[in-house]
Amino acid sequence: MGLKERVLTRYIPQHIAIIMDGNGRWAKKRNMPRTYGHKKGSENLKNIALACNDLGIKALSVYAFSTENWKRPKAEIDYLMGLPKEFEETFKGQFEEHDIKVMFSGRRDRFPKDVIELMNRVEDKTKDRQGLVLNICFDYGSHTEMIHAIRDISRQVKDGDITLDDIDVDLVTNHLYTKDLPPLDLLIRTSGEMRISNYLLWQLAYSELYFAKVHWPAFNQKQLLKAIDDFQSRNRRFGGLKEGK
Ligand code: FPP
Repeated sequence: MGLKERVLTRYIPQHIAIIMDGNGRWAKKRNMPRTYGHKKGSENLKNIALACNDLGIKALSVYAFSTENWKRPKAEIDYLMGLPKEFEETFKGQFEEHDIKVMFSGRRDRFPKDVIELMNRVEDKTKDRQGLVLNICFDYGSHTEMIHAIRDISRQVKDGDITLDDIDVDLVTNHLYTKDLPPLDLLIRTSGEMRISNYLLWQLAYSELYFAKVHWPAFNQKQLLKAIDDFQSRNRRFGGLKEGK
């Protein structure tokens, strides 16, 4: 049985997140500018999103720009800001054909106006689609996400809409950007780095972690299947006991 067939006979993760690391290093190894790595990374995101959709995965969250990435040189930031537009123009036909919905998670107040308009337009246009949800985390940071949730919840307590006892796991979960997505089953980070980098900290509580050595532009469908195959071989206990004990 091939790898894909084997993967398809077992539990398919509902929600996968990817820290798409290593675009710059991938490009440097080829004597190309870092922006070329981001371009190839963007193309790879399209391929992996289509592969996830094909496998029946419900949601794919990807870390495309962090709240800390504003510290990068202006030219690189400008290039990254242009990626959503390029992504829309280049792949919208394929995403429409496969009924893929796109949403963005993160702050929306620091982008140029045209980028915000594009994000809103893409979300609105794809909101009723039934295929994979591609959650592009853009100006995303888990701390900021939690601060917003804490502020919202505090406001509700202050206004007397809820009491302190109403604050539980479900309530907090429902105040995060990912509130409409299934629980996060698996986090993949490419490029060999073993860090979480302020990504989906609340959502990761019981997720499995998988670190791939290859840089993001080289993370192909086979690598994705290997990650899922590895995930499927794990014994998830969610704080309980090992099977049969
Ligand atoms: C990390 O590699 C990658 C990024 C900061 C950008 C990732 C963005 C994409 C793959 C495209 C996103 C697409 C859309 C539609 C927004 P790095 O630059 O940190 O690489 P390095 O660690 O080798 O320097």
